[in-house]
Amino acid sequence: MRTPLIAANWKMHKAPKDAAAFLDAFLPELHDQTGTEIALFPSAVCLPGIIEAARGTRVSIGAQNMHWLSEGAYTGDISAPMLTAIGCTHILIGHSERRQYSGETDEQVNLKLKTALAHRLIPVVCIGEHLDKRQSSLTAAVLRWQLAAALSGITPEQAAPIVIAYEPVWAIGTGVVATPDQAAEAHGIIRHEVANLLGNIAAEKMRILYGGSVKPDNIARLMSEPGIDGALVGGASLDPASFSQIVRNATTAA
Ligand code: 13P
Repeated sequence: MRTPLIAANWKMHKAPKDAAAFLDAFLPELHDQTGTEIALFPSAVCLPGIIEAARGTRVSIGAQNMHWLSEGAYTGDISAPMLTAIGCTHILIGHSERRQYSGETDEQVNLKLKTALAHRLIPVVCIGEHLDKRQSSLTAAVLRWQLAAALSGITPEQAAPIVIAYEPVWAIGTGVVATPDQAAEAHGIIRHEVANLLGNIAAEKMRILYGGSVKPDNIARLMSEPGIDGALVGGASLDPASFSQIVRNATTAA
């Protein structure tokens, strides 16, 4: 009942001409596939061009970050109204790299989530534990804390568009993918906590993606876990052949 979502987070990779070349190669690969939603999160400078190029296809386009305010003296930032004005439909919120390198706080994640919902952007809220927390058996506590902070003040009625991405920090860019059991356990903790915060109906409807070293050869096993509703893919999403293979393998396994 939850439509799988496979999303590409390109991080700080690809100039507009590279993004256009990706789409040229990627779109034809989708002709025989349905059933899985696909979203690309390119850098901000690629957004206008790639939104145009993806118009009328089944590929949605999102931004990697935004400010929570609509406008103001915030040099270097972009706002939700700016994103919706160019046809952006999705937004990544709280990626661990933004938390780690740009000092993004749980409070800011919450503000951005509320702004995304107010502007009808589909938010993909990233949470996940660092290795030391996992080794100290604090994974569940971290996930509960991050969820409670992110979802603070959100009502069950508002929750439908929200997507959560479970991205254990130790699995990002390391080639060390969480085992399907580890990912399924974390997704179970997340869904249980969403039920505590927003009720069972919202929890059952909420899509929870896995992210961290997803590759064409591990996506099917991850997707065979009933609580895993898709993936947020970094490195392996940069190559159209590799990303289309992930979409294909995910669709078959879902
Ligand atoms: P990798 O797939 O490169 O590990 O990155 C995951 C990620 O951070 C997606 O947001």
